Amino acid sequence: MTPYAAWAELEAAARRDADARIVDQFAADPDRLSWMTLDAAGLHLDLSKQSWTRTGFEAALSLARACDLESRRAALFAGEAVNSTEDRAALHPALRAPAGADFHALGAPVSAQVDAVRAEMKLYAEAVRSGIETGASGRAFKTVVHIGIGGSDLGPRLIWDALRPLDPEIDLRFVSNIDSRDMAEALTGLDPETTLIVAVSKTFTTHETLVNAEAAKAWLAAALPAAGLDRHFIGVTAAPERAAAFGCGRVFGFNDWVGGRYSLWSAVSLSCAIGLGWQTFQGFLDGAAELDRHFLEAPMERNAPVLMALAQIYNVDGLHRPTRTVAPYAHALRRLPAFLQQLEMESNGKGVRRDGSPVGRQTCPVVFGEPGTNGQHAFFQQIHQGPQVVPAEFVIVASTDGTSSESPLWANALAQGQALMQGKTEVQARAELIASGASDIEADRLAPHRTFSGNRPSTAILMPRLTPRTLGALIALYEHKTFVEGVIWDINSFDQWGVELGKVLARAVLKDVAAGEPGPGLDPSTAALLTRLLR
Ligand code: F6P
Repeated sequence: MTPYAAWAELEAAARRDADARIVDQFAADPDRLSWMTLDAAGLHLDLSKQSWTRTGFEAALSLARACDLESRRAALFAGEAVNSTEDRAALHPALRAPAGADFHALGAPVSAQVDAVRAEMKLYAEAVRSGIETGASGRAFKTVVHIGIGGSDLGPRLIWDALRPLDPEIDLRFVSNIDSRDMAEALTGLDPETTLIVAVSKTFTTHETLVNAEAAKAWLAAALPAAGLDRHFIGVTAAPERAAAFGCGRVFGFNDWVGGRYSLWSAVSLSCAIGLGWQTFQGFLDGAAELDRHFLEAPMERNAPVLMALAQIYNVDGLHRPTRTVAPYAHALRRLPAFLQQLEMESNGKGVRRDGSPVGRQTCPVVFGEPGTNGQHAFFQQIHQGPQVVPAEFVIVASTDGTSSESPLWANALAQGQALMQGKTEVQARAELIASGASDIEADRLAPHRTFSGNRPSTAILMPRLTPRTLGALIALYEHKTFVEGVIWDINSFDQWGVELGKVLARAVLKDVAAGEPGPGLDPSTAALLTRLLR
């Protein structure tokens, strides 16, 4: 079948499913739970509360097959130039593969170098943790300040928040924003003698990171002898010559075939390896590698990233639902929505196909979220009763530390999924009001406000425990889901030209700021705003 025909089939199936009630599907198809739930790399996935019927699901699967997903997946793992606008591979699976693997990027072997950097990271992280690697005055490091933005920040922050001990021996602080307040807050209370700065930038040209790294260097230089300063200043980059020129005492490298938002498996997470210890970091890599094997080996219809991608495509393109909310029911995963915003929207928020022609349909939805149960008390009102249907995703952790049970969290997550699907009719709402003593007039007045349309889809991802392994698997699951969607929309998920124009214009505005007046290139609105700000 051609992709064109498969899209038409999916759209027709979705039109029929739009009228079906999800809750009725369990009786109509007694096998629904068995084909819509699966286990992968320690995660349990339940897509049975999605809107598709069996026919809709089969149509989505045919679409994946028609888009040649299997050969595109093979190209990803073979290190072909899947990032076609930059002529690069996107080989993040090589970074988490067991030692001794044999990955190639554009035909050149890379695994030996990956293993070497990993060994170097391990040695350094352990030396910092044990106090062998010290600052200029011989004192052990107590805090790592990680400077980076976007992909050089969001992943390490997520890992640290998810896995950090409550009272860490070495604390981590993160600085990303060019707002000097961010740096000031991070450095407050720190002693330069026991502080290690890790500046992370794939390109080592990112304005925010360079400004912050300069500020951190000045802060160190004001307190430490010049001779030992470089012991406190480490760079992580794919442009080692720039990091060395900047004054980094030591540089950990990664390659241009690692996309920024896929770089948390590399030395970009050196700070986490220091703060958490190598064994924990290795467990994180191992969990992702297990999910990679699942993605490569499981049949399409039992493949977790494939099914999650298809559910999203069914919602976005079949049922015209252009948003999705992600609610991790675990405080430790509170950074997951922010991480996914970059992963999914920077990867797939695009309107042209790989050949440059318009996609002609909706691509990446707007992804947003908050941890549960906080989100319930903020925007869930709209998810339950707003006219727009917002598919929801619940990430549920049975136990964060393996001992305590997080049942108040699960109970809420399960109840939300149930409420979204079941809803409440006006007749039910009215009967409840009458039963609670309301008059007929009052019941008639209030019932519409207490009615829930229901039939709103959700996905549940269960993690028995939040461990380094399950966290690694969860993130790899989302990465491959994002990749599969890119294949089906036929877009390049690995470039990000959309962020460039704003960067270029910001440089021009900064020149105007230095000149003290708006330049001739500015439109009247922007010029007037700048004039006010300059005043
Ligand atoms: O502006 C977007 C971006 O290019 C992201 O793709 C990237 O993760 C981030 O900036 C940071 O880039 P770098 O790691 O080169 O500093």
